[in-house]
Amino acid sequence: MDGNGRWATRRGLKRTDGHAAGEEALFDAVDGAIELGLEWFTVYAFSTENWRRPPDEVRYLMGFNKGILERHAEDLNERNVRIRFIGRRDWRVPRAVLKRMDWATELTRRNTGLTFTIAFNYGGRAELVDAVRSIVASGVDPGKVNEKLIRAHLYDPQMPDPELMVRTSGESRTSNYLLWQLAYSELVFTDVLWPDFRRQHLADAIREYQARERRFGAL
Ligand code: IPE
Ligand code: MG
Repeated sequence: MDGNGRWATRRGLKRTDGHAAGEEALFDAVDGAIELGLEWFTVYAFSTENWRRPPDEVRYLMGFNKGILERHAEDLNERNVRIRFIGRRDWRVPRAVLKRMDWATELTRRNTGLTFTIAFNYGGRAELVDAVRSIVASGVDPGKVNEKLIRAHLYDPQMPDPELMVRTSGESRTSNYLLWQLAYSELVFTDVLWPDFRRQHLADAIREYQARERRFGAL
């Protein structure tokens, strides 16, 4: 969900106003995902690198993400959405935010509709470091380490590899997102800034995805 800061700056607003405007975009996209019948929909909300931002903006984003859950989790629950999180639960994340995340996860745990995953304090390299730590700690024989085992130690072993990744705001990189899982995903880049993103843009990206030929290294 990139481009909030630029969206705000272009309007002479504060960067944090751009984050606030991204809320409508996010829930329009979630509505679109439900309408389209997607089973998994994952968003990159806060990266392990985002801690490098000014403290005021980091503080805003922590409160904002907690507020998002307070404002939307019950509605999503009624719509059979299962909310999950991937990322590092470290000391930098305020306890009140972790509590809300656990509450939303537990509230929606048994739902069978869309799985809406929020990557929060997430980094693809951090995820692999954490997976390696957990594998080493398990004492497994090095010869038994294979792709299946690595997957089993990722933050959400049940999450399938994404078929499609959409990056907004005109940047053409993945920025440490789902490093392992994106190996064969189709990538769609759009110039739309995140606060302007709507379900129609998601549908457009899926249409673009459907026109691609996926070979997974075969012919
Ligand atoms: C994405 O928008 C939101 C987060 C990273 C939390 P940015 O804040 O990165 O917006 P730009 O890239 O500065 O426009
Ligand atoms: Mg950005």
